[in-house]
Amino acid sequence: MLLDMTRTHVPVLAGELIDVTAPEAGDTVVDCTFGAGGHARLVADRLGPAGTLVCIDRDPAAEERFEQLAREAPCDTRFLQMDYADGLELLAEEGLEADMVLLDLGISSLQVDARDRGFSYSYDAPLDMRMDPSQELDARALVNTWDERRIAQLLHRYGEEPNARRIAREIAKRRSGRPFDTTGELVDAIEAAIPAAVRRSFGGGHPAKRSFQAIRIAVNAELDSLDRALPLAWELLRENGRLAAISFHSLEDRRVKRFLADRARGCICPPDFPVCACGREPEADLLTRRAVAPTPGEVAENPRSRSGRLRAARKLVSEEA
Ligand SMILES: C[S@@+](CC[C@H](N)C(=O)[O-])C[C@H]1O[C@@H](n2cnc3c(N)ncnc32)[C@H](O)[C@@H]1O
Repeated sequence: MLLDMTRTHVPVLAGELIDVTAPEAGDTVVDCTFGAGGHARLVADRLGPAGTLVCIDRDPAAEERFEQLAREAPCDTRFLQMDYADGLELLAEEGLEADMVLLDLGISSLQVDARDRGFSYSYDAPLDMRMDPSQELDARALVNTWDERRIAQLLHRYGEEPNARRIAREIAKRRSGRPFDTTGELVDAIEAAIPAAVRRSFGGGHPAKRSFQAIRIAVNAELDSLDRALPLAWELLRENGRLAAISFHSLEDRRVKRFLADRARGCICPPDFPVCACGREPEADLLTRRAVAPTPGEVAENPRSRSGRLRAARKLVSEEA
């Protein structure tokens, strides 16, 4: 068993992921979202000396965690600090073939709890929210320069925020006086924009939760990366290779679900065709008929796992077949 280095991020649906994808000795696995290495560590334990584990994360802080895992892992290991879509492209160019690709989407508890990175509405910090601190666009630039309509749209689309227009209007009003610098100022504007009665109806949820999620998704272009990565990950898999993704909101889960369902579908002829004319064969076998959710026990122990949903599929046909 490897050293436990995941005290600050508990991997979500970890047992289910291992059960569903069944990594074996000698496999080549790509963990696209290394984070604190919780899932990677469990996978590495199963790969043995003949296995290879490639870990990707665009956050340089993840690399320190990786160094620790690399010293302990029984298998070959490698780290790529880049967007996972770029990483998958690079691995394909190098001719790597994978037995498993894992995506555990969103941000880690390490990132949320790093007070100075601006991911959390709970701490007053510079408005940043970049997973990769070398990236140009940060939350401060977005909030201060995107036009009001674009901000309203992103809050609505990525946060499903019912008060998107009110919040965008309040942001535009305040920044015309003084630009936003901190998460505290943004929280203040959001709270001021949402009428008290509506705020009360949020129950225990923080009024800035949806907006922070939306801004984070936009700053890090999270859905673009996912859209690019899914086909690249699929291409990288050998026959019988498994693609697994853990999503944390419906925008991600919908993409993963559609992508896997498309590959698992055979004939796509209109239903009134007497015989199949398309000749299309399924490329995937769904390993999860429905999304796998955490058990009540896991949610009680790790409330952040609540919205986690695991989907996975096995590749049936290789490109050459
Ligand atoms: C939920 S955490 C992963 C936690 C990890 N599975 C564990 O058990 O510790 C997601 C990680 O993926 C990284 N990430 C998110 N989107 C990324 C992208 N497009 N490219 C590379 N890394 C990304 C984040 O920086 C974060 O560290």
